[in-house]
Amino acid sequence: MSMGDYARHAAVWDWSGHDRLAEIGCWLILARRYGIKVLSAMCATGTVADALARQGLVVTAVDITKEMVAEGKRRYGSNANLTFIEGDICDLSLCAVDYDFAFISTTDLHHLHTSEAREDALASLAAHTRQGGGLGLELWYPPEQSFASPWREFGPVTPPAPGEPKVWKKGKTEYDAASRLVNITQEVFVERDGAIEQFPHQFSMKLFSREELYVMLTKAGYNVVAEYGSYDFEPWEAKSGKWIVEASKSAK
Ligand SMILES: C[S@@+](CC[C@H](N)C(=O)[O-])C[C@H]1O[C@@H](n2cnc3c(N)ncnc32)[C@H](O)[C@@H]1O
Repeated sequence: MSMGDYARHAAVWDWSGHDRLAEIGCWLILARRYGIKVLSAMCATGTVADALARQGLVVTAVDITKEMVAEGKRRYGSNANLTFIEGDICDLSLCAVDYDFAFISTTDLHHLHTSEAREDALASLAAHTRQGGGLGLELWYPPEQSFASPWREFGPVTPPAPGEPKVWKKGKTEYDAASRLVNITQEVFVERDGAIEQFPHQFSMKLFSREELYVMLTKAGYNVVAEYGSYDFEPWEAKSGKWIVEASKSAK
């Protein structure tokens, strides 16, 4: 299955008005444990990357979708601490190889469906990180049971600012515990000047076990430092609402 229509999404990414302060606070604290030079991978338009850069971190934000990178530059191009680069996380080749901290937010690592792709991605991040540097991953812990959530509408939390489009989605989610695949089917609606544009956004995410994660991290040269169950750093347990993994690049 495709990774969805991120190209068409770019102009209206982060449309919902959801408050991302807790998430941003979490990445800020984790990054500062390792230094100031940060790599934000699979960044979309760089909402989190920009917020960290505004707090004094020096951030490189990478995404494979050129429209996301272009929109990120349009929104945040005036931030001198932030650089956008178009690139595939599985095969990164950046000038700098001394990042203090690299991270993938919003469970995006699950967009990569094969263990080879995930291992390439982690090896790529490790290759660009200094010895002892950090890695942060927000992951989706695989539920034991399959489930299917019916079609729901997701409206914006706050009304659009004057001149901005109104964006909303309808979507359903299906999870197959045997294959650990989450299939997400959405229709995106964008209303501008009274006209409504609609496009599908359909993608699947491949979840994996904790054991598989540890194997992947070890292969890439990382040691797990801690696992958190919330953006407030509560200790992780299988029933936690979130799964955030902190790792450090081990000496070879
Ligand atoms: C859900 S969005 C990311 C949201 C973002 N993490 C945030 O906090 O707003 C997923 C992003 O992953 C990007 N992506 C997918 N595969 C990628 C790859 N192999 N390398 C880099 N970026 C990738 C897509 O272009 C898309 O922008």
